[in-house]
Amino acid sequence: METVFRQYRELIDSRLFSFLEGETERSRYCANNEKYPYTLFDPLNYIMSGGGKRIRPILVLLSCEAFGGNKNNALDAATAVEILHNFTLVHDDIMDNANTRRGKETIHKKWDVNSAILVGDELIGLSYRSLLRTKTHDLEGVIKAFTDGVIEVCEGQALDKEFELSNDVSIHDYKIMIRKKTAELLRTSAVMGAIIGNADAEGIKAISAYSENIGLAFQIQDDLLDVIADENEFGKKIGGDILEKKKTFLYLKALELLSGKERDDFMFVYNTDGHENKIKDIIKLYSEICVIGSAKDEITAYTNEANRNLDSIKNSSVKSMLVSFSDMLLNRSY
Ligand code: IPE
Ligand code: IPE
Ligand code: MG
Ligand code: MG
Ligand code: MG
Repeated sequence: METVFRQYRELIDSRLFSFLEGETERSRYCANNEKYPYTLFDPLNYIMSGGGKRIRPILVLLSCEAFGGNKNNALDAATAVEILHNFTLVHDDIMDNANTRRGKETIHKKWDVNSAILVGDELIGLSYRSLLRTKTHDLEGVIKAFTDGVIEVCEGQALDKEFELSNDVSIHDYKIMIRKKTAELLRTSAVMGAIIGNADAEGIKAISAYSENIGLAFQIQDDLLDVIADENEFGKKIGGDILEKKKTFLYLKALELLSGKERDDFMFVYNTDGHENKIKDIIKLYSEICVIGSAKDEITAYTNEANRNLDSIKNSSVKSMLVSFSDMLLNRSY
């Protein structure tokens, strides 16, 4: 099955890189074409060619096929969502003070914050340019789904930042935040694929529920990997969320389980700077009080729910690929 996803990745990267090459060439100016806005395109090509699992574009293609569509018709939309996702990462790394992404220096570290802001802005424009090439009976529906995704990510990111400064975040609030910042873009991907694949309303509803549940599982797992992953494999700093006082699933679950002085101490240490061994101590506490296990249970529950949402999909070979896709995400280490 991994081989199948590798083929999808290759197909996506081929369309993605030919699109980006065209855009870099287009930007060349002056008679001999030697000049181009390199402070923009060098970091832009750096982030786009620096790896990434490509899960959102894979979901676009799978969803298109689930309803009998040809995945080649979904490649421009798949490219668009991957470009948009990379915009969110570049700006997210500024907001989260992150120095490393995909095992490499982040753009605002390697270049500067202004470059990273501009790269993000350009990526949004380019993502729409690719999206508009989509050949479908309902381009308006595709653009609407995509635009909803852009808006939801921004609102989710706002909540994520607001929660850093709050001591009054519930697991319910957290779920709303991760649905917006992460699950919605997976839902966008699946809905676009379904429209391009000519799905009916019932099909769109089913794949929409599947992708939203996969998205919630995906973000809880990202929170979990922030404390249990191998840093080299993960490509991001372990404990980055702890340093930024992120209200993650693990943090909120720990608050539920602790009480009295232990709870007060934990909250104080987590929400103030300058503690020696802060990351190590918090991770140790997480494993002692079993919030790591709770996170794993939550991820499994959302994944199972997602797979149940596929019941009404008739194409059994693509359905089993979607289940394998869920499995691949569930078992990921980065
Ligand atoms: C990272 O997304 C941001 C989150 C929503 C957790 P991915 O884990 O899909 O990032 P890449 O593209 O594979 O690097
Ligand atoms: C992911 O949030 C959401 C977006 C990037 C929009 P994170 O801040 O947890 O993502 P990583 O861990 O930096 O990839
Ligand atoms: Mg973030
Ligand atoms: Mg981040
Ligand atoms: Mg994270």
